[in-house]
Amino acid sequence: MDTSTQFKALIVEKTDDGRFVREIRERSINDLPPGDLVVRVVYSSLNYKDALSATGHPGVTRQFPHTPGIDAAGEVISCTGGAFAAGDNVIITGYDLGMETDGGWGEFIRVPSSWAVRLPANLTLREAMTLGTAGFTAALSVLKLEQAGVKPSDGDILVTGATGGVGACAVTILARAGYRVTASTGKSSDEAFLRMLGAAEIITRDQVTAGLERPLMKERWAGCVDVVGGDTLAAAIKATRYGGAVTCCGLVGSTELPLNIFPFILRGVSLIGIDSAGCPADPRAQVWNKLAGEWKPEQLHDLVTEVRLEGLEEKIQAMLRSESHGRVVVKLS
Ligand SMILES: NC(=O)c1ccc[n+]([C@@H]2O[C@H](COP(=O)([O-])OP(=O)(O)OC[C@H]3O[C@@H](n4cnc5c(N)ncnc54)[C@H](OP(=O)(O)O)[C@@H]3O)[C@@H](O)[C@H]2O)c1
Repeated sequence: MDTSTQFKALIVEKTDDGRFVREIRERSINDLPPGDLVVRVVYSSLNYKDALSATGHPGVTRQFPHTPGIDAAGEVISCTGGAFAAGDNVIITGYDLGMETDGGWGEFIRVPSSWAVRLPANLTLREAMTLGTAGFTAALSVLKLEQAGVKPSDGDILVTGATGGVGACAVTILARAGYRVTASTGKSSDEAFLRMLGAAEIITRDQVTAGLERPLMKERWAGCVDVVGGDTLAAAIKATRYGGAVTCCGLVGSTELPLNIFPFILRGVSLIGIDSAGCPADPRAQVWNKLAGEWKPEQLHDLVTEVRLEGLEEKIQAMLRSESHGRVVVKLS
């Protein structure tokens, strides 16, 4: 292909006075980082990490100008390594995409082919990005709870940040897998949305943390999928039943964990760390196949809003104000 081909991308630039500005501009495939796989991006998505990258958070991106987008799904244009043929549909989530490597908020990406997963049958490119890193992380969390021995008959699973991307996907995947889900949210107006996703009970953020000052809390949860961290994660662990497990993937509340060791040594509770970005190829493929099969949410179309690059600014700001509601997909080409 002609590598001087021009395409549209959202570019984040650092100004001389240290601000970060976002603009949609033309760039060429020659500008992209090296890699054996060139993909025409059909859909990308918005994740919390993208909102941080787009606003210059140094924990995600340090080199500017930069195109965010940790998720991309599209059509292979060329693959010099031979792993894919032109025309194949692929998904790329995580690794360094959208962090220091120009990401899915541009009409083309160039990456190592080892980052790509073939689009499973029974999943469209749009559905793959409706799930995206959020859905992948939610599914990986549910898989880890299952592997820790947490069964639907054990009792309720708490999902925190339930109206956000990871949370909403976790509610629907858990409900689909037969678990009774208690969804914690800061948005009383989203009760109907959470019930539609499959939540059996809805509680406030304060109801999760009430009693946190005690060394241990009343046993309430068979397991938990947490995206918040801080007091919320500590309370979830302190209120998890004997032998239960809690997954930790997010930091929207805090990166701290104010906790003692009693839940671990008196109740045998497990705390499981979740990293979707570096997830190895085998479990990565296993999770995508589950998402395309037995765990494919029936409500996928109800939990997504579609925007073009031009519509991202409003969604980024809403996400940073904790106003996310389900998932946002970005239509590129
Ligand atoms: N480790 C990994 O591999 C991985 C992968 C994906 C995401 N993550 C992390 O997971 C987190 C969630 O990502 P996301 O894409 O789902 O974000 P999101 O769509 O913005 O959802 C976050 C949700 O958390 C709740 N929330 C926000 N601020 C809060 C606060 N201060 N205290 C308590 N709850 C708060 C809100 O839900 P309610 O109003 O319903 O409470 C919000 O909708 C982020 O920290 C992200 O970086 C990690």
